[in-house]
Formats: sequence, structure tokens, C-alpha cells
Amino acid sequence: MCGIVGYAGPRRASPILLEGLKRLEYRGYDSAGIAIGRGDGSLSSVRTVGKIQALKDAVPKDLGGTWGIGHTRWATHGGVTQANTHPHFDGSGKIAVVHNGIIENYRALREMLAKEGVVFTSETDTEVIPNLVARYYKGDLEAAVKAALVHLEGTYGIAVIHADEPGRIVGARNGSPLVVGVGEGETLLGSDVMAFISSTSRVVYLNDGEIVSLDPSGFRITDRSDSRVDRAADAVTWELGAIEKGEYPCFMEKEIFEQPDSIGRALGGRLDQDNATAKLGGLNLDRRYQRAVSRVNIIAAGTSWHASLVGAQLLESVARIPASADVASEVRYRNPVVERDSLWFAVSQSGETADTLYAMREIQRKGANVLGICNVVGSTIARESDGGVYVHSGPEIAVASTKAFTSQLAAFYLFTLHMARMRDMSRAEGERFLAGLAAVPDMIKTVLGRRDAIQAVAKKYSRRRDFLFLGRGLLYPIALEGALKLKEISYIHAEGYPAGEIKHGPIALVCPEVPTVFLVSDDGLREKVISNIREVKARGGPAIAVGVEGDKELEGIVDDFIPVPKMDSRFYPFTMVVPLQLFAYFCALDLGRDVDQPRNLAKSVTVE
Ligand code: AGP
Repeated sequence: MCGIVGYAGPRRASPILLEGLKRLEYRGYDSAGIAIGRGDGSLSSVRTVGKIQALKDAVPKDLGGTWGIGHTRWATHGGVTQANTHPHFDGSGKIAVVHNGIIENYRALREMLAKEGVVFTSETDTEVIPNLVARYYKGDLEAAVKAALVHLEGTYGIAVIHADEPGRIVGARNGSPLVVGVGEGETLLGSDVMAFISSTSRVVYLNDGEIVSLDPSGFRITDRSDSRVDRAADAVTWELGAIEKGEYPCFMEKEIFEQPDSIGRALGGRLDQDNATAKLGGLNLDRRYQRAVSRVNIIAAGTSWHASLVGAQLLESVARIPASADVASEVRYRNPVVERDSLWFAVSQSGETADTLYAMREIQRKGANVLGICNVVGSTIARESDGGVYVHSGPEIAVASTKAFTSQLAAFYLFTLHMARMRDMSRAEGERFLAGLAAVPDMIKTVLGRRDAIQAVAKKYSRRRDFLFLGRGLLYPIALEGALKLKEISYIHAEGYPAGEIKHGPIALVCPEVPTVFLVSDDGLREKVISNIREVKARGGPAIAVGVEGDKELEGIVDDFIPVPKMDSRFYPFTMVVPLQLFAYFCALDLGRDVDQPRNLAKSVTVE
């Protein structure tokens, strides 16, 4: 949430900062700004409301200066105005700060500083920071930032420059990520590696409580006790092509169509045919402990929570381990019972979601092992978890998560197989499960081939204002995910429900104006869902079904039928979610929405 970029080196800073902000735009896109040192004891700054393009248009093409900071904002404190746009400055205009996170005690700090004569020009919590730094500045920016930080309560990732310290940027992290980019004769800073991916792939992640002081020749990290931290650089393996749209009009479409490959990567090297099980190298748990696990609890948010709900059901039904999946923001404040022999998972595409991260820390504090299922390598959850599974989707840029979801599913299917084979699952059954999993990428290819038919259905319904999405068993979380995708990018109201639950209330919404999307498997629950469809049809409600190819009865009773290939019914969550992703995408396109950057949202939610 919000993006930070910083550059210190021999090149002109403004194009580098603008490019970094463009790549970070998915983190927040309501306003953006830069501040650049001129080298003459002053700073240049440009701030604009709106997307990065507005900032690009406003920045003079020949803007000089070789060190600076930039920010793209997702508003928390104060409306979307130019005055609230970062960077923020101290009264002298010599100190500039960009900030991600929330300073919880900013009101008290504002009062204190106002009494000392500071005049505030924005409504933000951030503006206290440059003024605190100014309060302590005596020719050493790093020392002044350290003194200022003592006052701050809350979360922050910050980058600070001073007009009189050419080439220096000071960064600090507490709860909001910061990464140093190590270049040749230049050093960069970012809220994630996207900020500088085209300049360097050598990165150093900061931990909470750490401060970095950097200049073109390198960087120095210190911790809360002012001790030097030596940390080697990691290499980022993402290719530039993976973060560009290529032939696609937007990232969401590209990411939906990448799924056969991204799932292939999640499964890659992990299908152990010899032993009819899954190999997961990063669990960091000894086999005796794994065998003794008596319960699995999963925490996550949004789409990752929906993947976790599938994971929990699978673990119960296939591995016969009691399991549940909970919304992380609820778990953290519920004082959860952490049972002995229980294993926890924190699931997050970005690995930076504050709700999930803080809940994970709370559970670790109570003594449990928490494994991460993350996409972003080196992210905070990935680093702080006790082990886990990277899903290897590649960078997901569209705010609406698609390929990360199916790769998270893949991680849960692998883990379930691994745990089941350590318990009661026979070798023959393990082979069947493996075969089903290995077939998923091709099955998804077939569904993607039905793109045009799905687009036609979306066109027919895109002007409806309300939708219901219904499924049972493993397809109930898929109904939740279909509804989330639709509301997120098209702004159409949609509710996901367990199909059997509609008679307990939601059926009151059914009428000719409200379509219902049914997910219909060919397992034992099919008949029950067919009855639900008949109940909806009897009340004049339009019915769309995503069902199994060849199900003529189903096709005959619904208004629109989207078939997926027949397979082992345990794997339908993979194939049935894809038509729902496409349906949401084409509805949003038809309504002229900004699909990749829907209103009010941001990709990585790093505030509570
Ligand atoms: C997904 O389409 C959403 N943008 C959102 O629900 C997301 O899944 C949620 O914020 C969790 O993100 P994470 O997976 O990065 O933790």
C-alpha cells in the first residue's frame, strides 16, 4: 500500500523515480510526487493528484538533480489532494519525507510541534516526520532521523533526504517494507523490488527496526541498538518481461491466461511420482512433528483466504486432519487458542499484508509454527515464517488476484497430498491424486479456449446491478472468489454463498433482475445444487451455471451454461474459478472500468 522509490547515483534522478513509480503504481494510485536534490542547498518537488501519468506530464523534462525520492499514495489520513500528496517537507523545505504506514500518535506529535512553532500544510500523519527530523538536525541526517523515530508510534517505511546532504537517502522500516537496490555506482531504495527492477536485481531487505543510510557508493544498515547489520545482497530472479503486459491489453488478462504456466511452476519439481507424493523442500519441520500434527489453522485475507478455505476442506477430506481457515484481521484480535501439535499457515500473495503478518506474529508469539504460502520471494511473511511454500506465480501486477490464487491452490493440494501420504492415503490413491493434479494446467488451457463464449455471457449480464454466486463443498470458496472478483473490478454488487444456505435468507433477493451463478460439480452434491437452481428458476431468477461438460440436464435448466472439462471432482476449484475470473474481467471491460487499478483498492495492503 503506497509505493516508495529512492535513487542516489550519477544519473538524472527524475526519469528513474518516475519509472519506479510507474512500476509501483499497483500499490496505490490516487496521487504521486517526487523530491529531488538540486545540489545547491535546495530541493525540487512536483506533486500531482491522479495517476503517475499526471505526474509524468507535470515534471519538467530537463529536471536536474541526481538523488531523490518518490511516492505513489493510497490515502489513509487526509483526502486525495495535492497538499496531502507525498513527499512532505519540514518548514524550511530542506527535508523531504515519503512514508508508507500509519503514525498512530501523530495528533499528539502535531500538537507538540505546533507549540514549537511548526505550521502544518497537510492533513496527513506523515508531515510530523520531516518536522521531527528538522527538530534534531545538526548536520547529520541519519542521526536526526534516528532521534525522530524515537517519537513515532505506529508503522512506517520512510525515505528521507536533506537538501544539504547531496547523494544521501536515509530509510527506516517498522511494519512497512523497504528494500535496498545495489547497483553499479548507484544505490536505490524501494517499498518493493519493482521500484528499481530495471536498474538492478541485487537487493537487500530491511527488517523492522532497521535504518539504512545510502549514497551512490553503497549503504550501511544499523539496528535499534545502533549496531551495524551486515547483510549480503540477494538476487531477484524476475525477468523484466514478466512485469510487462506484452501482447495483452492489461495485466489481469495476461495473468489469467498465464495460469497453465504459473500452476506448472507451482507444481514444478514437486510431484514425486516414485513415491506417489509431493516434495516440499521448504517446510523446515521434522517428519515426526509433521506426523504428529493434529490440526491445521490457516490465516489469510481476501482471495488468499478463499484459497485457504479450499485448502482447509481438502486437508480434512483428503488428509483427514481437522483444519480451518480464518480471516487474519479477525484472528489477531481474538486471542486464538494455539493448541499443542497444531500447525498454522499464513497465506499471502504479496507476503506483506499487514493483517496476515500481524496475526502471524501473534501466533508465533504463542509458540506455534507458522508456515508461509507466499508468491513474493523475500517478502516479510516469507522471511518471518518458520518455513513454507513459494508458489512461483511470477509477479502479479493486476490488483485483482488470479494466477496467485490458482498457485496457492496448487500449494495446498501438494501439502495435502504430502500429509495424506504420511497418514492413511494408499499409494494407489496417491497416484490418482498426483495424476489429477498434473492434469490441471491442460484442463485450464481448455477452459481458456472458451474465452469468447464466456465474454458473450458477460456481455449479456454486465448491466445487472446485483449477482449471487452459489456453490457447495470445495466450490463454496470458489463462489466467494467469483463474487469478490466481480465486485472488485466491475463495482457490481455480488454475494457469494453456500448454495444450501440461500433458503435461509438470500433467496429473498431472487427476481428477474438478479442473476445467480451456480458452480455445479458432478460429485454427490450435484443433485442438491440442481434443486437450488430449480428453486431460483421457479422464482423467475436468471441462472448461469459453470458445470461439467456433457451435463445435459444442467445445461437444459439454466439460461447460460459454461462447461469445464470432466475431471476428478476434487480438482474443479482450479477449472471452475477460471470462467469466473474471465466473467468478472469481461463485465468490467464492458462497463469501461479500469481493470488493473480498480477504485479505492491497492495491491498490497500494508496497513491495518
Ligand atoms: C484479491 O483480488 C484482492 N485484491 C485482495 O483480496 C487480496 O487477495 C488480499 O488483499 C490479500 O492479499 P495478499 O494475498 O497479498 O495477502
